[in-house]
Amino acid sequence: MALLKSSKVISSIGTFSPSLGVLSTRNSSWWGGVQMGPPDPILGVSEAFKRDTSPKKMNLGVGAYRDDQGKPFVLDCVRKAEALIASKQLDKEYLAIGGLGDFTKSCAQLALGADSEVLKSGRNITVQTISGTGSLRIGANFCASRDVYLPKPSWGNHTPIFRDAGMQLKAYRYYDPSTCGFDFNGALDDISKMPEKSVIMLHACAHNPTGVDPKPAQWKEISDLVKKRDLLVFFDMAYQGFASGDIDRDAWAVRHFIEQGHNIVLSQSFAKNMGLYGERVGGFTVVCNDAEEAKRVESQLKILIRPIYSNPPMNGARIAATILNTPDLYKIWLEEVHGMANRIIKMREQLAANLKSEGSTHNWQHVIDQIGMFCFTGLKPEQVERLTKEFSVYMTKDGRISMAGVTSGNVGYLAHGIHAVTNRNFTARAVVAEKHKHRRDNREIEERVDCWVTLHPL
Ligand SMILES: Cc1ncc(COP(=O)(O)O)c(C=O)c1O
Repeated sequence: MALLKSSKVISSIGTFSPSLGVLSTRNSSWWGGVQMGPPDPILGVSEAFKRDTSPKKMNLGVGAYRDDQGKPFVLDCVRKAEALIASKQLDKEYLAIGGLGDFTKSCAQLALGADSEVLKSGRNITVQTISGTGSLRIGANFCASRDVYLPKPSWGNHTPIFRDAGMQLKAYRYYDPSTCGFDFNGALDDISKMPEKSVIMLHACAHNPTGVDPKPAQWKEISDLVKKRDLLVFFDMAYQGFASGDIDRDAWAVRHFIEQGHNIVLSQSFAKNMGLYGERVGGFTVVCNDAEEAKRVESQLKILIRPIYSNPPMNGARIAATILNTPDLYKIWLEEVHGMANRIIKMREQLAANLKSEGSTHNWQHVIDQIGMFCFTGLKPEQVERLTKEFSVYMTKDGRISMAGVTSGNVGYLAHGIHAVTNRNFTARAVVAEKHKHRRDNREIEERVDCWVTLHPL
């Protein structure tokens, strides 16, 4: 109650919490000083998409897998695991702070490999987390106030996650816009200058947003240099299986670094590879020197987790654990992950082929070469804006498209739109014809643009 009475306390709320702003006693509401925040760059795209009435609209902003009919996809192994769990009539007691044991064991095994020396010697601690985001945040809290180097660019949410946990944000070169590929030399050069004991964030596979991964030989060089600089490696593996369709191949970099003696920390998410987006299933692993050190680290992770969410939710972890520990379901899952990855790879090939048959003379090889859910098209912000305005194709302003939202039915339309906005010969007359074709009135179009320009770049 003291909080409600004392104006001193209220102004201190403003001082400590930027989201509240400084409240003046003149305000009739406690929240009168709260400022409107910008929309989330990715979820904001979905909001604009919902308002669009075009029958051809495409939402390529959010990274969620869709089937070839453009529908959300629930994996068969997930449905089967849910039925199995329901038949057991299990209780709903609290999980331990570190989560479901059956889940954490198989989660670590999936990443590190069944034969992992780390697992055999018990020198890891793996806790269940609130999907990949929760894992990254627990990891960021655990790494405390160190410098963290993110690839340029990185997943948009990395910045607030690490910043809000109190880490000092730095960046290293990663993407080369001139090749739409990996800036290997730039990355090596920047890594060689990182101060010792800093944290380096590496996307284990299917880098988001660029879809550009180092090749194995490049990973090896990065590993050697990172060791020389004595950096702590923080792997984010949100797409195991999604890059190549093979869970072991996608975990290659993580396993290589461990083999080379790096005691890494690792975030895992089961949102994409099991389609458990809303179930929020993830893991955070710390590889330690020995089992005794792992116990001490575990105690600190529990101290971090307890006041945040006490213990994680059980439903999704039970589903994932059932799939990972039931041989028949595991087999189905591997086939389904492979199927999802293959559909995406096929869409990449079809998009490049359709661009060519549209008459595009640009080099679109990167659309095929990039890997995983996202394609960094290389479109400029003004081209993205036109694609949204004239073709109702929604994507983030950095030119990233989710290939998982492309289908056999709309890939031709997407190629047509991309060609139109990247082709210098696409005249104003053609734009007018395009507008006419989609029977939109100008006001509707303006609204879409207004809505788009309020979005913030990643
Ligand atoms: C690179 C990366 N890390 C982590 C995540 C976390 O996802 P979630 O919290 O849904 O598991 C994502 C999701 O898009 C991602 O792209």
